Amino acid sequence: MKHILVVYASHYGATRRYAACIAKALHARLAEARDAAPLLAGADVVVWGGGLYAGGVNGAKLLAKNAEKLRGKRLIFFTCGLADPEEPADLPALQQTAQRALPAALRENAAVFHLRGAMDYAALSPLHRLMMGMMKRMIERKGDAQTGEDRQFLDTYGKKVDFVDLSAAGPLAALLRAAAGDAAGEIR
Ligand SMILES: Cc1cc2nc3c(=O)[nH]c(=O)nc-3n(C[C@H](O)[C@H](O)[C@H](O)COP(=O)(O)O)c2cc1C
Repeated sequence: MKHILVVYASHYGATRRYAACIAKALHARLAEARDAAPLLAGADVVVWGGGLYAGGVNGAKLLAKNAEKLRGKRLIFFTCGLADPEEPADLPALQQTAQRALPAALRENAAVFHLRGAMDYAALSPLHRLMMGMMKRMIERKGDAQTGEDRQFLDTYGKKVDFVDLSAAGPLAALLRAAAGDAAGEIR
């Protein structure tokens, strides 16, 4: 059986919830991105997930730093954000963000997934709250040029939302099972 390592970078826990669920179902080791480096050599298949922040992926710098250690391994990369991958208008931007975060040498062996996250404005750090406030003002200034994603941002602004759906990680886990040659438990 191949060794699977599940790595995550998460500020508020949504990415961690997906990563922990995948690791549990696949009996895989779970590690935070900042602790992953020494564990990579022993892994055949690596799942790497990061939350989306202002069009970037949390942990992308660590991924780039570890690119050499990941080269030649099967990589399953997922992002976790509020944008809806089921929304045709949102998908191209999500794909672009993921491709930008993936070091060029790893793209060929990588499968990419997008999972929906959560947000509790009351729990945000001062910097993140400031960033969201700036984004709100920018979107409001767009007026009629607002997109569906913009309107969704305004609808959820200041609130607590949770779109985490662990069953959405099922296709990722199925791919992982095939890559690892393992028939471990179901994602629930
Ligand atoms: C400052 C800030 C910027 C964000 N930018 C994006 C974004 O560009 N796209 C997106 O889909 N979600 C964005 N989000 C939402 C987060 O991706 C979402 O809350 C996710 O669940 C965070 O995962 P984590 O809790 O694992 O860090 C942003 C959230 C904050 C606080």
